[in-house]
Amino acid sequence: MTRKKVIYGNWKMNQNLAEVRTFFNELSSFKPDWKCVAGIAPQFIHIPEVLSLAGSLNVKVGAQNASHKNNGAFTGDISPLSLTDMGVHFTLIGHSERRSIFKEDDELLNEKTKLALTHGLEVVFCIGETLEQRKSGNTFKVIETQLANGLKDLEKSSLKKIILAYEPVWAIGTGVTATPKQAGEVHTFIRNYLKEKTNFDSEETVILYGGSVKPDNVFELLSHEDIDGALVGGASLKARDFADLCNEASKF
Ligand code: PGA
Repeated sequence: MTRKKVIYGNWKMNQNLAEVRTFFNELSSFKPDWKCVAGIAPQFIHIPEVLSLAGSLNVKVGAQNASHKNNGAFTGDISPLSLTDMGVHFTLIGHSERRSIFKEDDELLNEKTKLALTHGLEVVFCIGETLEQRKSGNTFKVIETQLANGLKDLEKSSLKKIILAYEPVWAIGTGVTATPKQAGEVHTFIRNYLKEKTNFDSEETVILYGGSVKPDNVFELLSHEDIDGALVGGASLKARDFADLCNEASKF
């Protein structure tokens, strides 16, 4: 298996400019030398600053969202073309906060995914069930529907630019992490789904787990053979924690 472990930080709507600079100053003082793939998705407005600070540290820079259109009358949206123009490496699509707060549905997320891939962005496509859906025994059904609708009609050549992120909604920002067994069984389900129902190279596709990942639980989660890394919110905001996450992910 050639999959390298991945740690992507999702800063959401956090960090002011001074905090962004402090983060990278501190990170560089740790002289990072990781084997894992590391990346940070800051607020859009900080992307140029983060690009200039992150490059020498081998940290990829991502966006948290991208428009379903290239340009035009879409006030407040950010074009995937502008993202690639700036040198952004990846974008999240379909984070549960976009789905629930901003009402982004499967159809829109599918459009966004296709367009971002067309422009060469790596897409981190996020899926996950709510607590209610889990309790009613619908986890796998929800995951399958999100995958089937969100990843519909993709060009075969672009499939290797997609990373999947399984983020159970009940674990995001709650401090309640899925156990490695709970997360692992969904990851295995996703890998089997890719193998049986899609053109993805299921063995090569990177599947991240997200939801209250911290330096002290990441190693156990990443020990599962189908968990290839983590998408981390809260614990990616401090340089020490982010470095520790990457150090743990580099042990594999
Ligand atoms: P969290 O967020 O690590 O703070 O739970 C994860 C995410 O929303 O991607």
